[in-house]
Parts: sequence; structure tokens; C-alpha cells
Amino acid sequence: MKIVIANWKMNVGVRESVALARASLLTLRGRKVIPELVICPPFVALSEVRKVVARSSAAIGAQNLFWEPTGSHTGETSSRQLLELGVSHVIIGHSERRTQLGETDEMVNKKVLQALSEQMTPILCVGESKGEREAGEARAVVETQLATALRGVRLHGNARLLIAYEPVWAIGAGESASVGDVIEMHRFIRSILANLFPDAPAGQMAILYGGSVDGENAYRFLRESEVDGVLVGGASVKINQFKEIVEAAAEVLEAQRPE
Ligand code: 13P
Repeated sequence: MKIVIANWKMNVGVRESVALARASLLTLRGRKVIPELVICPPFVALSEVRKVVARSSAAIGAQNLFWEPTGSHTGETSSRQLLELGVSHVIIGHSERRTQLGETDEMVNKKVLQALSEQMTPILCVGESKGEREAGEARAVVETQLATALRGVRLHGNARLLIAYEPVWAIGAGESASVGDVIEMHRFIRSILANLFPDAPAGQMAILYGGSVDGENAYRFLRESEVDGVLVGGASVKINQFKEIVEAAAEVLEAQRPE
């Protein structure tokens, strides 16, 4: 399994999103095996992007949701509203929301529970800051984030849970984490998930890396069995970069195919 998720953040408008969605889908053309592709446009572009993505194998993700299904919550968006727009995935707990908007692990937990209750796939983001890594606290921070965010979570039926390990210091930094550090953290996260969900089949959960993934370094991460995919920010709105990332994932999958 290899998953490529494009997080366009607030970097594109509606028209640009439509063009970018078309170009992103073209990167899948002519491949024998393709990675799972999830496109996460800004909210304002969801319905237009849906028209482009319909009938393709790509899925649409939102960049956030609110934890109540309906009600007086000015400016918020519910999972039900997102489902109406064909949204199947949702990024939850991105570090930009944690640091810029004060999102806490408790809020993240409510959002994860809400997404799963509506059969949406959460893309739960965790990761330590630079100071926390330097203090040797990276694992402890990620463990606490996961323990709180996944409190009360059950994976019923074929519900899926994607975890994105995104060290805060590598996001938009132009310099990714090292492959070795990523593998180590993914192993740690996998062990926590195995404890929390002992009965969940392997394919139900995936661990992705995010943080300055680009066309140049994507293959180095994706070829590792510990890395089920990548969550891409800046390079996902640069189509040449994004094409290389999708190609890297496809190459890894092709190499894994039995003769
Ligand atoms: P960059 O790829 O721009 O570092 O962003 C990563 C990210 O935050 C994806 O959610």
C-alpha cells in the first residue's frame, strides 16, 4: 500500500484548484499500478474539485471538520456537509491548526470520533516540535498525542485510520526529517496502534510521513516498507514536483509486484 495525499492548504483559489486537480489526475495516467491518491483542496474549492475527480480513482479530503454533526457553530463545517460534497477523508490535528488556532489533543479526539462515526477516514497528524526533539521528547510527545486523540476510538467494519507523522520542524522547512528518524518513529507509532487496536487488520491503518516531501526525496521515503505513504504540502501545488512524487510511489509499487 502506498498513499499520496496532497494538502493544498490555503495556497490555491477555486480556479487554480480545478486546474491543479486535472493535472494531478494526469500523473496517474499510463501506469500499471498506481498509489492511492487523496486530494485535499481548500473548502471553497471542494465542490468544483469533486466534479473533476468524479469517476477517477482519486479521493477527496477536507483539511478540517467540526465535531458536531449540525447546529449553531458559525464558520464551522460538519462531516455531514462534507459527505454531501463527496469528501471521504479529512485531515485532523494538523500542526498549523494546533499552533495557529490553539487546537488541542482533546479537540482532535472529538474530531476523530466524529469523522469515524460518519464513515470518513481521518488523516490524524502528529509530530513533535524542534525543541521537543532536541530535548529527547519526540516519542513521548507523539505517544501523548496519539493516546489522547484516539481515546474511545473503535475501528468498526472496514473503517480506516491514517496517521501522518509530521514533525513540526520539517513542515515547509525545505529540509525533511532523515529516513532513519522517520522509520524509527513509524515503528514506534505502529507499536502504539497495535496495542490500541489489536484486532484491526493491517490494511485498516496506515502511517504516512509529511514534512518537506518533494520530487527529489519522495522515493527515499516511499521505498521503505515502514512508510505507507506521504502527506505533501508545498510540493503538491507544484505539479512537476507532485508528478515526481506520484511516479516514485508508482515505481515502488511496480517493483513490489510479483513477476
Ligand atoms: P510541506 O510539504 O510544505 O512541508 O508541508 C507538509 C504538510 O504540512 C502536509 O500536511
